[in-house]
Amino acid sequence: MTHANLVLTPGDGIGPEVVGAALQVLQAVADRFGHTFHTQEYPIGGCAIDAFGTALPAETLEAALKADAVLLGAVGGPRWDDPSARDVSAMYPSPIAMRPEQGLLNLRKSMEVFANLRPVQLYPELLDASPVRPERLQGVDLLVVRELTGDVYFGEPKLRRVVNGELQAIDTMSYTEHEIRRVAHIAFQLARGRRKKVSSVDKANVLESSRLWRQVVTEVSQAYPDVSLEHVLVDAAAMYLISRPASFDVLVTGNMFGDILTDEASVLTGSMGNLPSASLGQVQNSLGLPRGLYEPIHGSAPDIAGKGIANPIGTIMSAAMLLRYSFGLLVEADAVEGAVKQAIAGGCRTRDLGGNLNTQQMANAVIAHLGI
Ligand code: IPM
Ligand code: MG
Repeated sequence: MTHANLVLTPGDGIGPEVVGAALQVLQAVADRFGHTFHTQEYPIGGCAIDAFGTALPAETLEAALKADAVLLGAVGGPRWDDPSARDVSAMYPSPIAMRPEQGLLNLRKSMEVFANLRPVQLYPELLDASPVRPERLQGVDLLVVRELTGDVYFGEPKLRRVVNGELQAIDTMSYTEHEIRRVAHIAFQLARGRRKKVSSVDKANVLESSRLWRQVVTEVSQAYPDVSLEHVLVDAAAMYLISRPASFDVLVTGNMFGDILTDEASVLTGSMGNLPSASLGQVQNSLGLPRGLYEPIHGSAPDIAGKGIANPIGTIMSAAMLLRYSFGLLVEADAVEGAVKQAIAGGCRTRDLGGNLNTQQMANAVIAHLGI
C-alpha cells in the first residue's frame, strides 16, 4: 500500500476537465489496488494571474516542491494573450509582461525537471484518424526526450529594447555542457530498455549551441556502446517524422526543437489530445523516486473549453506515467495504459478522434476497463 502526495494544477481552458478525468482514474486505481493518494489542487497560469496577479503563486510552487508528483492540465488562452497592458514585472525581467506560460516554465525550472519524456505510440484502431498514410505508420513507437529547463526558453539576455529608434527583441539560445550531458544520459538509458537507438536532433550546421550539443551527446554515447547514435538536423528530422516515422526509437533534442517536433509527432497518433508527458530530474520524492511533473502535451484549447468534450487520454496516460515513475506502481501504470488501449480498441472515441463521447464518458470507459 502506497501513500503518496499528489499536487494537481489544472490550469486554464480544458485543463480542469482533463485533470478531473485523470483524477477519477487515479482514484479508481487507488481504490482497487488499496493505495492512498492525497491530492491538493493549486492554481497556475492565467487563472492564477487573475486571482493572485502571478502565473505561479508562491503556495503553488511550495506545494509542488513538497509533492511526490504534480499533475498539470494546461495553461494559457486568448484572454491573457495581450499582457502588454498589465503591470507585471515581478517574475520576469522587465519589460516582458507576464504570460500564463511563464507559470509553467517557472514551475519546470524550479522543480528541476530537465528531461521531458514524450512517448508517441500508435493505437492500431486509430490509424485512419492520422493524416499520414497507414503503411507509413506501421511500427511507429518512438520516445522524444526533450530537454526542458534550458535553451532559448530560458537563455539570457531575453529582452526588448529600442535600438536606432525601433524595437528590437532578443532571445538567447544557450546550452552548457552539463545541461546537455544529463539529458543525453537519460536518453541513452531509456534507449537501453527499448530498441537501442538514439537520434540526436540539432541544427549543428548553423548554431553554436547545437555544435556543443552534438559534441557532448557524442561523448556521452561512448558510455553506451550497445546503443547506436545518429545525428539528425532538425529540419530533416521534421521531414523524417512524416516520411519514415517508424525509423525512430529515442529522439533527444533541445527544448525548442522538442516542443515543435512533438506537436508534429503527436498527430501521427490521430490527435495531439492523446499524447502524455513526464518531466523528470534528479530530485527524489518522499518515496525515493523521481519527483515528476506530468502533463498532456496539448494546450488549453480555448475553443472547446468548458464544454466537457475534451479528449482526456493525454492526461490519463500522463497519470499512468506518474504512477510508474514517481509512485513506483508499475502494475497499476500498466493497468491504466491497458485500459486506455482497450477502450480505444472497443470503439471509444472523443470528438477529436471522430467519435461522440464526451470527457466524462471517455473517463468512465477507461475506468470500466481497469477491470481488476
Ligand atoms: C508544451 C507547451 C509549452 C512549451 C508552452 C505552453 C509554454 O507548448 O509543453 O509543449 O512550449 O513547452
Ligand atoms: Mg508545445
